[in-house]
This record gives sequence, structure tokens and C-alpha cells, in this order.
Amino acid sequence: MNGYARVAAERAESLRARGNATILAIETSCDETAVAVVRGGRDVLSSEVASQIATHAPYGGVVPEIASREHVGAIDPLVDLALERAGVGIGEIDAVAVTYGPGLVEALLSGVMWAKAFAWALGLPLIPVNHIEGHICANFAAHADCAPPFLCLVVSGGHSEIARVLGYGRYESLGGTVDDAAGEAFDKIARALGIPYPGGPILDEIAERGDDRAYAFPKPRVEGRYDFSFSGLKTAAITAIRRAEAGGSAVDVPDFAASLRRSVVDALIEKLLRCAADEGAGGVAVAGGVAANRLLRRELAARCDALGIRLWLPPLHLCSDNAAMIGCAAHHRLMAGEIAGLRLNADPSAELFDPRANAP
Ligand code: KG4
Ligand code: ZN
Repeated sequence: MNGYARVAAERAESLRARGNATILAIETSCDETAVAVVRGGRDVLSSEVASQIATHAPYGGVVPEIASREHVGAIDPLVDLALERAGVGIGEIDAVAVTYGPGLVEALLSGVMWAKAFAWALGLPLIPVNHIEGHICANFAAHADCAPPFLCLVVSGGHSEIARVLGYGRYESLGGTVDDAAGEAFDKIARALGIPYPGGPILDEIAERGDDRAYAFPKPRVEGRYDFSFSGLKTAAITAIRRAEAGGSAVDVPDFAASLRRSVVDALIEKLLRCAADEGAGGVAVAGGVAANRLLRRELAARCDALGIRLWLPPLHLCSDNAAMIGCAAHHRLMAGEIAGLRLNADPSAELFDPRANAP
């Protein structure tokens, strides 16, 4: 064992015994540089996000190499800001956590390399966090009563899953998308409608003024009881847009956006509540960027209320990518003794439902 590994392991052991480590968390998986200071897995002392949306907007999507360069420039000042806003000195940080995947490899590496250097220089434990797990754990920061077991609908730009949260850090997949993720479908259709990047949130805003019965979309057919499919919907939507254009007209954007949003949200809610009923789940949570969707939040709140199911929705700033959620997830990894060595690498397709990681 080299010097760093021994020091970090000993520190991790004493933090486990103490239980309320102050963690500096770094998130750079896509186009947001984010840094947070989180204590005890739920107490967010600061959470800073530097968005790159304006930089990538002219390209209509995220350019990985530009994202990584922006992260490199943004991390240092953001760490200083996060420490200052948390009222925590660098010497009071007990451990450093970082998103190692899934995400864009170039972007992930910026954060991973920074966190490794920081951990090595200060002899601190390094905690690797799965980005999707981070989204789920955002609910712990927002709701004191949110604790396993519960079901979680994870809906982001790259994932649509129904996860069973068996315990802290223990997840089981009950269903998921067989093709496009919900956020991906929103983004691609928004693009075809001429809505600027990032499409999902803007489409959601426009949909508020539209009639959701104006256009009919095919209902996805999928075999798995809790699985989703959005590619048929996406193709039907893009074909309708192109057909209208070819005929010299255009679809009514607010009505089209509202009808489409209705189809996606209905599919998500139907599967989630079917799963909750089958499982006899008393509580369900939602996580990921699409958890910010206005219709999804309204509709799910009303349905869960009527069914007597406890619903946990993260506040909007904890739905989109942030580092507070990474700090929350890291706490439970640290408590389980799961720290990384300096060989930690970025894993662009990291799995949350790794059978080894989920073994009881
Ligand atoms: O979780 P996230 O910030 O990044 C990933 O991990 O992918 O999710 C981003 C996704 C994008 O597809 C974005 O369009 C979508 O979340 N999104 C929304 C809304 N806000 C963000 N989709 C629908 N309605 C929204 N209000
Ligand atoms: Zn995300």
C-alpha cells in the first residue's frame, strides 16, 4: 500500500465512525460544472453550478471537447466560491467526491482528474459517484423523510428507469426505456420544431400555452410491464413536422408541444403508478432533469395524492445536474467504506444496476 492509500483508508475509517463527514463534491459529466459542500448526506452547505449552455447553443448540442475545456477553467473558481458560501475552510473538508460516469468521457475526466489531485494533495478519501445515483439521492437533500425502501422514476437526458431503492446505495431496475430516454425525445422533437437548445425545458414552457388534445400521437407498445418506448413517438412527431413543412404549412407549436408532452408524461406516470400498485409502494420519488417538467410534477402530485402515495419531488435546482446530489450519494458510499484509489478512471457508460454493487 502506498502512502496516500493508507492515509486515505485510515481517514475514511474514522469518518465512518463519526458519520457526518463534510464532503466536497464535483460534477462535470456533461455541460454543467458543479461543486457543492455537503455534510452528513443531507445537509447542503453550498451548491454552485456554472452552466455552459450559452457556449454550446450555437452548435445545437453539447460539444464534448469544448465541455471539457470549459470544466477545466471553471472548477477552481467554483470550488473557492462553494467553500466560501458554505463557510468552510479547505482544511475542514473531510473527503472529496466526484462523478465518474455515466456521461461524456472528456467532460467526466476533467472532474475526475481534479478530484484525484485534490485528494492526493490533502490525503483525503476519494469517493466515486454514479451520476444516476446522484440524481436519486437529490431527494435526500430535499426531503428529511425520504428514505429507502421506495421506488424512483429516473428521467434525464440519457436515462428513463424505474428503480427500486432497496437501501442506501442498493438499487434494482424494474423497468426502463427500450430506446430513447424521455429527455432525449423531448430534445430531439424540440429541435425539429426549431426550438433552441436545450429543447426540453423550453418545450415544456411553450406547452403551457397549448391544447394537449390538438394532436394525436401513437401510444407506445412495449412488452415489459414497466418499460417505456419513446422512439415511435419521436418518429411520428418529426414526420408530422416535416410533412406539414413539405405541404407549405407548419404545425401549431404550442398545441404540438402540449400534445407531445401529454403523451410522454402519460406514459411515464402510467408505468410508474402501475409499478407502485404492484409493489404496494408507499412512497415514490422522481429524479433527473425531466423531473422539472411542469406537467409531470402537477399530474403526479394529483394522482399520488388521490392514491395516498407519498411523493418526493426534488426542487428544480436539484433536478438538473448539480453537485449537491453527488455529495449526498457520496456520503452513503463513504459509510459503506467504498472509496476509490488514484487509479479511478472515468466510465462513460457506468452502470447503476451492477449486480456486484447491488449484492446484499
Ligand atoms: O439530468 P439532466 O440535467 O442531465 C442528464 O443527466 O441527462 O437532464 C437533462 C435532460 C435534458 O434532456 C432536458 O431537455 C431535460 O432533462 N429537461 C426537461 C425539462 N428540464 C430539463 N425535459 C422536460 N421538461 C423540463 N422542464
Ligand atoms: Zn443528469
